[in-house]
Amino acid sequence: MAFAYRGGVLCAEQVSLEDIAQRFGTPCYVYSRAAMERAYREYADELVGRSSLVCYSVKANSNLAVLSVMARLGAGFDIVSGGELARVIAAGGDPAKVVFSGVGKTEDEIRRALLAGVLSINVESEQELARVDSIAGSLGKRAPVALRVNPDVDAKTHPYISTGLKQNKFGIAYADAERLYRQAALLPNIRITGVGFHIGSLMTDSAPLVAATQRIVALVERLEQAGIVLAHIDLGGGMGIRYKDETPVPIAAFVRGALDALEWRKEKILLAPGRSIVGNAGVLLTKVEYVKPGESKNFVVVDAAMNDLIRPALYDAWHEVRQVREMESGAAAGVYDIVGPVCESADFLARERKLSVRPGSLLAVMSAGAYSMVMSSNYNTRPRAAEVMASGASASLIRERETVNQLFATERLLP
Ligand code: LLP
Repeated sequence: MAFAYRGGVLCAEQVSLEDIAQRFGTPCYVYSRAAMERAYREYADELVGRSSLVCYSVKANSNLAVLSVMARLGAGFDIVSGGELARVIAAGGDPAKVVFSGVGKTEDEIRRALLAGVLSINVESEQELARVDSIAGSLGKRAPVALRVNPDVDAKTHPYISTGLKQNKFGIAYADAERLYRQAALLPNIRITGVGFHIGSLMTDSAPLVAATQRIVALVERLEQAGIVLAHIDLGGGMGIRYKDETPVPIAAFVRGALDALEWRKEKILLAPGRSIVGNAGVLLTKVEYVKPGESKNFVVVDAAMNDLIRPALYDAWHEVRQVREMESGAAAGVYDIVGPVCESADFLARERKLSVRPGSLLAVMSAGAYSMVMSSNYNTRPRAAEVMASGASASLIRERETVNQLFATERLLP
């Protein structure tokens, strides 16, 4: 277990979260290196013996130290911006193992990706295909291109994180895909490498992925008949984790389901998991400032806020909240909403939780390794939290806490 109680105190691996709070301050994100390595290996092990690449989805948690842990394991990377490409390179990742998806790639981003030598640009529109062809021509290169196809399959997840339906902005319409492949095959500066799709995030079983894969396999077969041969099939990510009482199928079973759907296809398989690798490998560590009984609700005001973790406000997401000290002496037991100092009523991290806390108590907001720090902001001129990586008995600072001066260092007074 990455986060477990030892002697009544919640620890990250073997390091007490009390010690981490003391050394690095709060709020702060704490990750377990072993937990993310274990999750990555679950994917990799299931793919042994098959031409494959696990491309960690950088958007889930893009800290350089996290990326370097993945790079050392041999991972590839799924990116969505030039910024993420720069991070992968800075962290020692191999650009030749990078797939670049996203509906709005700029000319500059495409140029940088081609110069870096990425594995594949996942093109999401007809206009983008033309743009990639022309930029590659100007660089005297042939661009490795996969089409990201929208299979129109319901991932049965929160509407904000569903991406594989007709009404979503992502990918090329299934009905247009074959025509666009034929077009791409005729473009002088394009080398067709594969096909990609990603239907959504937080799936708890592999059925939607299997359905999408079957549709894509049918397309791949039609392309083959037309003489268009692909080198890889990129199934995206999307496997859920347990936040509350969800029961996602184990990673191995999820991958097996997808492999079965691919039947006898021999193309290289790419997977692009994010959340299932880092989600449960991180917590947001926060300190109680005030316990505030109210007329209809009781509040625990902590030093973390919606700017640090926006998922509850944005998706009504549920994160477990644990006391760092199992038995808090002199604490008031009650049912509390855990809220931050930001000026918004949506500034809550959790609602109606049973806790025993007092000012100074530490709380851990669980399952905060994915889509948490990466979605943080400086709203209310709040410096962003520090990040710490625990590994065995040691903890390292992997991102310094921002300072207020940094926040306005690029602003200018009027003359
Ligand atoms: N590949 C593509 C093209 C994606 O768009 C995504 C996630 C992934 C892979 C990785 O998906 P994962 O394995 O992490 O589910 N902010 C939301 C999640 C947004 C997911 C966006 N795309 C949240 O906090 O729940």
